[in-house]
Amino acid sequence: MAAIDNIDACVFDAYGTLFDVAAAASHCQEDLGDQWAPLAQIWRDKQLQYTWLRSLMDEYVPFWQITQNALDYAMASLKIEDDVLRQKLLDVYFRLDVYPEVPGVLQKLKAGGKKVATLSNGSPDMLNSAVNNAGLELDAVSSVDKIGIYKPDGRIYQMACDDLNVTKERVCFMSSNAWDAWAAANFGFQVVWVNRFNQPPERLPGTLRETIQDLNALPVLLGMD
Ligand code: LAC
Repeated sequence: MAAIDNIDACVFDAYGTLFDVAAAASHCQEDLGDQWAPLAQIWRDKQLQYTWLRSLMDEYVPFWQITQNALDYAMASLKIEDDVLRQKLLDVYFRLDVYPEVPGVLQKLKAGGKKVATLSNGSPDMLNSAVNNAGLELDAVSSVDKIGIYKPDGRIYQMACDDLNVTKERVCFMSSNAWDAWAAANFGFQVVWVNRFNQPPERLPGTLRETIQDLNALPVLLGMD
């Protein structure tokens, strides 16, 4: 029997879960040298902080602007001044690599009759570019931009239900961002944490259904394969 049954839709977080957020800096290793990993880390941390801070401040701007602000902070903190490199990093970020198992797993889920979608902080232009670049066929590409506030506001998780016409108990939600996984579980999704980075569990409300290391293990959990 499936570990998680009665699921109509599989909804995936985008950045860090489907798309490799470190890929932009890692593609520019020749320019960045040893600084590529710290740059990737500061850029990502700052990007997420700005989503939470702007939500609390009621000062929404699209994720693409936040991504640029966070990159500028990261470059300044590492004392890198290089406009050409800045543009190169942004160009790669706009069409980030997918993790290698993603296309095959998504196809399997669709073939098994599930709706497959992404629910993301990303602005529609960024998301469509990354999804098309990876050749993913999704039933919905839901962006927080429609509501104008970032995860983990509950209205964002509800939007995935509305866009797919499914109830929250019948959504299996996957995120590698632990805080997003916990918040989605607290909202009422069946949540599988994709713990790609071997992180400790969050101390936040919400009860996860399962934890996996990458998406390869997902179809079996849902009774496929
Ligand atoms: C997203 C962020 C959380 O895609 O990675 O929503």
